[in-house]
Amino acid sequence: MSETHFGFQKVDERDKVRRVRGVFDSVASRYDVMNDLMSLGLHRAWKAYTVAVAAVREGDRVLDIAGGTGDLARAFAGKVGSRGLVVLTDINEAMLRRGRDRLLDEGMVLPTALCDAEALPFAPESFDLVSVAFGLRNMTHKERALAEMHRVLRPGGRLLVLEFSKVAAPLQKVYDWYSFKVLPRIGKVVAGDGESYRYLAESIRVHPDQQALKGLMKDAGFGHVDVHNLSAGVVALHAGIKC
Ligand SMILES: C[S@@+](CC[C@H](N)C(=O)[O-])C[C@H]1O[C@@H](n2cnc3c(N)ncnc32)[C@H](O)[C@@H]1O
Repeated sequence: MSETHFGFQKVDERDKVRRVRGVFDSVASRYDVMNDLMSLGLHRAWKAYTVAVAAVREGDRVLDIAGGTGDLARAFAGKVGSRGLVVLTDINEAMLRRGRDRLLDEGMVLPTALCDAEALPFAPESFDLVSVAFGLRNMTHKERALAEMHRVLRPGGRLLVLEFSKVAAPLQKVYDWYSFKVLPRIGKVVAGDGESYRYLAESIRVHPDQQALKGLMKDAGFGHVDVHNLSAGVVALHAGIKC
C-alpha cells in the first residue's frame, strides 16, 4: 500500500480514506452553516458561477460527484426540467443523507447514489455534464477519479471542477493567517471540531494548483480545458471538454 497526503501528513492510502470519512462524518450536521461562515457566503457566488458556466439545458443528464448537501444538484435540477436527470452522489453517507433530506424538504426527489468517484457505478457516456465541487481535493487517486468522470461523459460532454486553488501572491500571507489561525477556531466553536478545519486548510495547500490540475485533466483525456480563477485564485473552476 503506498502513501499519500492527508493534509500535511503522509499516511497510508487506506488510512486517508478512513480519515476523510471521519472529517465529513464529523462536520456533516454543521456543514452548510460552516460553509457560509468561513467563506463569508462566497461559496454561493462560486457555485452560482459554476452553474452559469455549465449552461445546462432542458433534458440534460447531469452527474454531481461528491455532491454532499446538494447545492449544485439542486441548482441543476431547476434547469434540466422533468425530461432531464440530475444524480446526486457522494462517498459519505452522513453528507449524502443531509443532501437528500434537504432536497426532499424542498420538494425535490433526485436519484442519489452512495459511491466512490474512483469507481463510478454508471455506464460509459451516460451524462452530458459532470460536476465536482470541493471534492476532488479529498480523493486519494485524483487521476483515477478524473478518468472515471471522463468515462461516464458522452463525447462533447463537459466536466466542471470547482476547487480551492493557488491564491494570488499578494494575498498569500493574509490567506495563510486566516486559514491556519482563524478557520480552525471557527470550526471549533461552530462545529465543535477544529481539527477537521485544520485539515481543510492543509489539504488546500497540497492540492494541485491551477496549471497542475489542468494538466491532470488533459492527461485524463479532456481535449480542451479552460481555467477560471475566482476570488484571486482562492478558488478555480476548471471546465474540460471530452473531445
Ligand atoms: C467539501 S465537501 C463538498 C460538498 C459539496 N460538493 C459542496 O460543494 O458543498 C467534499 C465532499 O467530497 C466527498 N468525497 C470525498 N472523497 C470522495 C470520493 N472518493 N468519492 C466521492 N465523494 C468523495 C466527501 O464525502 C464530501 O461530501
